[in-house]
Amino acid sequence: MSPPPANLVSIDAGYDAASMLADVREGLARPQKTLPAKWFYDERGSELFEAICALPEYYVTRTETALMRAHVAQIAATVPRGASLIEPGSGAGSKTRLLIEKAAPAAYVAIDISRAMLERGAAQTAREFPQLRVVAIHADYTRLERLPDHALGETAPRVLYFPGSTVGNFPPQETVAFLRRVAGWLGERGSVLIGVDTKKDPAVLEAAYDDAQGVTARFNLNLLARLNAELDAGFDLAQFRHRARYDEQLGRIEMHLESRIAQRVRVAGQWIELRAGETIHTEISCKYAPAQFRALAAEGGWQCTHTWTDEREWFALYRLVPGLVG
Ligand code: AVJ
Repeated sequence: MSPPPANLVSIDAGYDAASMLADVREGLARPQKTLPAKWFYDERGSELFEAICALPEYYVTRTETALMRAHVAQIAATVPRGASLIEPGSGAGSKTRLLIEKAAPAAYVAIDISRAMLERGAAQTAREFPQLRVVAIHADYTRLERLPDHALGETAPRVLYFPGSTVGNFPPQETVAFLRRVAGWLGERGSVLIGVDTKKDPAVLEAAYDDAQGVTARFNLNLLARLNAELDAGFDLAQFRHRARYDEQLGRIEMHLESRIAQRVRVAGQWIELRAGETIHTEISCKYAPAQFRALAAEGGWQCTHTWTDEREWFALYRLVPGLVG
């Protein structure tokens, strides 16, 4: 192990491992059993997600990366001099390095729930850009009320970079609430660069979330393996099947784990029961037409100044600035 780079600062923002247990207990007690998607990303889950990004069916990463490459000069020009670039759910961050290279922000602030991913990504970025101040915040950004100002620089203009359509994991009303909270993080001179997946042929969408090699199935099932390892659960992965379907009404992919049989499973000292065919809902991935997303952003207090999209309009990147009040 090499020592951490001198331009990297790590902060623990009071993230509490007990919250996974609380989420699991609460989610599995609902009529529609549910596990929050943010718990997918243990070390194995993060590896599987990276494998998903390289799948032929998963157009998302490829399309967004091409979009970034095609427009990076114009995108980077929207980042003010001396800015702090803030990335929630930073993960591996290859698109981010493209942006940093061209925009040359003063600081890069990575926030992630997965300590392993956060540290690996932040250290790599710090090594690659020795002039850049890198701040790694281990936190659940969905629960982060404010950013640690002392670490970010109080006066630097702040730009939130939120690529990958991660925002699709939240239903629309939570997206609006999140965008409002972001306004508080960033202040009046803040801006947002956000990558969001669009609506398209349901067959294309369903293939992207149910690939031929079964990588997405392994990613979904890994959540149960994680509960086995970390919450002393007794899930037999062979007794569950991966399901992904596009709900055209709601404009979203839903992923579920379907029980193949009637079974009782121990989870953290309690028993849960599943009927044959009953599902545990693990993820939503909302898709937005550009006009629809811009309207949602406006509800969250943001005005769109730029929309970049590819020829097929398969993915969109938006730049947002604080909206007019009133
Ligand atoms: C990381 C949330 C954007 O919803 O497309 C990929 C996660 N799930 N395949 C997505 C995911 C299944 C991904 N996000």
